[in-house]
Amino acid sequence: MRKKLSIVINLLCLGSLLTTFTWYAFEDSFVELHRPNPQRSAPKPSELCKGCKEVIDEVKKLYNQTWEKHEENYHRFRLQLSINCNGSNNGIVTQENTPVGSKIICDKDRSVISVTPELFKIFIKENPFSKKRWDTCSIVGSGGILTNSGCGKMIDSADFVIRCNLPPLENEFHNDVGRKTNLVTANPSIFMQKYGSLTGRRRAFADSLQQYGNSLLLFPCFSYGGTRPACQRAVYAIEDMDIPIQPIFINPRYLERLVKFWQSLGLKEYRPSTGLYLTSLALEFCETVHLYGFWPFSNHPDKLFPLTNHYYDNVPYDRKVHAMPKEFSHWVELHNKGVLKLHLGDCKSDQV
Ligand SMILES: *[C@@H]1O[C@H](CO)[C@@H](O)[C@H](O)[C@H]1NC(C)=O
Ligand SMILES: *[C@@H]1O[C@H](CO)[C@@H](O)[C@H](O)[C@H]1NC(C)=O
Repeated sequence: MRKKLSIVINLLCLGSLLTTFTWYAFEDSFVELHRPNPQRSAPKPSELCKGCKEVIDEVKKLYNQTWEKHEENYHRFRLQLSINCNGSNNGIVTQENTPVGSKIICDKDRSVISVTPELFKIFIKENPFSKKRWDTCSIVGSGGILTNSGCGKMIDSADFVIRCNLPPLENEFHNDVGRKTNLVTANPSIFMQKYGSLTGRRRAFADSLQQYGNSLLLFPCFSYGGTRPACQRAVYAIEDMDIPIQPIFINPRYLERLVKFWQSLGLKEYRPSTGLYLTSLALEFCETVHLYGFWPFSNHPDKLFPLTNHYYDNVPYDRKVHAMPKEFSHWVELHNKGVLKLHLGDCKSDQV
């Protein structure tokens, strides 16, 4: 069970930066199990996939090691995002933007959900991002690149810390990933698979959320019509057991606008991954956005040793990327333009 689950997590969080293949897997991950291939095992220590060194060298050449924020580029990009997508107001479903009687159209299967008074009650009253601004935000992917990075302190020093897919934050990881969490995402497939759709006992689920304190718990409840009941039960479990976390839902209307926006920037036939969604949203409410743990290749950028799939496990799946994934190349470009900072090195030297 644990293995299956990790694969799903992987596809959402780290996989979010991979190729179209993985993106489609991401899409499916809400409804389908992704089983590890029993024939595959973890890469051997010296393994470097064919052609991978060339791609990694190319990224290293592109990636500007001396980073400085470029105010004008940042403000221009943020303005484009707020005009085209308006995440500060529409990024999540709220009682303000989704009244009783309105319809929600799921972005993946186009099913239509009517907002009943009961459903309405689990929406947050107003968007927590509409009036507030933070100086610095860390967005933490779960890539194996964080292992031994020593980035924990730096990650936690941000005013607002965003993490992907309920990652473990136990003691052994603090030094590399930190522990502060202001927003954490979850994939409804976790509720379904790991916690039996939350139709039985819910204590294990509730307990697992304690480590995130009173952060926001963001999940895509309205991508597929079929996931709504499990989402609703998740919220009830959280409320009934007085877990301090605050559930919020991705707004499928915002996702549609985001798709159009990124398509206009060249991410053709593409759909926003969790990483893209979080970064786009954060750029609207954070003055300086730092990305950690996003590295789509199987080998370390500097020393080329093989990386585990996540900083917390190494469930093998095919992650040998032979071309720079398009989404990742956008991060590098935005980094070079001084719009956001992409961290690829460890935090002692912070160099590639
Ligand atoms: C790298 O970034 C620095 C600071 O933002 C800038 O001055 C420099 O021109 C950039 N170098 C390249 C090769 O883009
Ligand atoms: C974003 O949405 C809010 C509320 O719907 C609206 O008041 C605001 O003008 C919008 N901002 C932009 C830039 O379109």
